[in-house]
Amino acid sequence: MPTDETTSAPDLGQLPDRVVPAFIAHWVVKTARSKEMIEWYGHVFGARVVHEDDQIAFLTWDHESHRLALVKLPPPLRHVFPLARLRRKTYGIDHLAFTFPSLEQLLLSYERLKNVGIKPVWSINHGPTTSLYYEDPEGIRLEFQVENFPTAQETADYFNSREFAENPIGVNTDPDYLLERLRAGAEEAVLLRRGAGTRPGTTQRANKRTITWKTL
Ligand SMILES: [Fe+2]
Repeated sequence: MPTDETTSAPDLGQLPDRVVPAFIAHWVVKTARSKEMIEWYGHVFGARVVHEDDQIAFLTWDHESHRLALVKLPPPLRHVFPLARLRRKTYGIDHLAFTFPSLEQLLLSYERLKNVGIKPVWSINHGPTTSLYYEDPEGIRLEFQVENFPTAQETADYFNSREFAENPIGVNTDPDYLLERLRAGAEEAVLLRRGAGTRPGTTQRANKRTITWKTL
């Protein structure tokens, strides 16, 4: 993707000169919808419950002992905070992002989830990433993404380009169209370009026009 650099990115070859945490281990949600959450994470991540009692459930889907813990609140409490799922639209943590190793895997996951009725609230090529945003039953937003550039350094350079300055949010995509193109033999590198997910004859929202009440 051609970029027109305006400022220089930091050199990411320089590692921090101190001991820092190695990786994200897990997150914990206080929920009055533990049953729905366990089912949803079971569909989306293939999560398995490694322990569950009246107070808590631990779930994992990979080498970690637990990736997600649910602190169980009494189910009637779901009615006490009707606006809780709107909080992230205005303040605090907005979303957690998860990388897929390829566009094909991201899109196959999209198709699999669509077939069980789980659809993204937003599908966009941001420029640095191609992303599908989902919301769990508590309204916690998860971004499923694939990197559009092969290295973090190239992405850092893109952040400092004129193209990014002119449209820092990206262009909405039609994931079904991307999947059709992939199955028709299009190269992933081509499909990762902004605009590649716009079906001919349609227009996709770009930059600030991608932000609606649903995607906010
Ligand atoms: Fe993100």
